[in-house]
Amino acid sequence: MKTYNIALIKGDGIGPEIIQEAVKVLDTVSSTFDFNLKYNELLMGGCAYEQTGDPLPDDTIQGALASDAVLFGAIGGYQWDTLPREKRPESGLLRFRKALGVYANLRPAIVYDELLQASTIKSEIVRGVDIMVVRELIGGIYFGEPKGKDDNRGYNTMVYTRQEIERIAHQAFKIAQTRKKRVCSVDKANVLDVSQLWRDVVTEISRQYPDVELSHMYVDNAAMQLVRDPKQFDVILTGNIFGDILSDEASMICGSIGLLPSASVGADIGVYEPIHGSAPDIAGQGIANPIATISSAAMMLRYALNEQAAADAIDCAVKLALKDGYRTKDLAEFDAKQVCSTKEIGTIIAGYISKCKH
Ligand code: IPM
Ligand code: MG
Repeated sequence: MKTYNIALIKGDGIGPEIIQEAVKVLDTVSSTFDFNLKYNELLMGGCAYEQTGDPLPDDTIQGALASDAVLFGAIGGYQWDTLPREKRPESGLLRFRKALGVYANLRPAIVYDELLQASTIKSEIVRGVDIMVVRELIGGIYFGEPKGKDDNRGYNTMVYTRQEIERIAHQAFKIAQTRKKRVCSVDKANVLDVSQLWRDVVTEISRQYPDVELSHMYVDNAAMQLVRDPKQFDVILTGNIFGDILSDEASMICGSIGLLPSASVGADIGVYEPIHGSAPDIAGQGIANPIATISSAAMMLRYALNEQAAADAIDCAVKLALKDGYRTKDLAEFDAKQVCSTKEIGTIIAGYISKCKH
């Protein structure tokens, strides 16, 4: 029987609670589909800082690199917000992404018919939305030099090299080939030189994908178009900070940020995590929605472990649970038959796996 080594990073806030439910569902699919998962828990974030003085201990990088995939909860919390920047949980996460070389962040935003009412946007506008945001993750203004701050001046630099743009553009075009074959590249080329290079390089790379239609959009317009008519988008290709912002916006179209998974992939290992944060305000109350993490586990099975049937079964089980009216508190107002705790919905989704075995 195949055995996969999964690095498990629970992190802070609701991280441990949501990871626990993803593991519950993973254990169910692994026994249903006959493979083994071995978990190796690694420390990262505020909890790592408390135990080791570093939000990203070296062991965590080594452990992650030695695994087949990383399943990640969430990091951060108010108590660490005042630390010097390099000690903050978020800095650990950025260093982690860089160390693993996960340059492509894939953030699907899919509207479930069962949750149409949960969107703050009219049903007729969001029904059928299926967008994949492809965000560059280890470059741009998040990592550019020079940067700094004193009492009178703070600055960061947005830099992209041709090579960085090329590799993320290839990812986006390849993904589009498996979908509706449309890429919308989002930039600010009317103002920023870095964006003009982005636009030029993306256009060049697009010639290698004649079956994919490329369009360009300024980021301010894209933010507007996403709420005006989200169905016009298939794949959105963009840089680090624009992708950060637009993927949060896209998530809300779907009703709850608690639903959306992500995959961060590079040449080698992938990190699979919900797009939401650690939600310290609701941590420990058993009300967090674990679906984004459970769906991230499905993405892990699909992209990293090539266990397609198991991945499909998780997606199917999530849909059935939602269809049958099981909701965590964030979605309680929307046709809930039963409002569930974090643990209950995990158990319910795991219970549906056998029905979803094809
Ligand atoms: C995300 C988060 C992170 C980011 C933060 C926590 C550093 O917002 O994954 O979208 O900005 O990339
Ligand atoms: Mg973000």
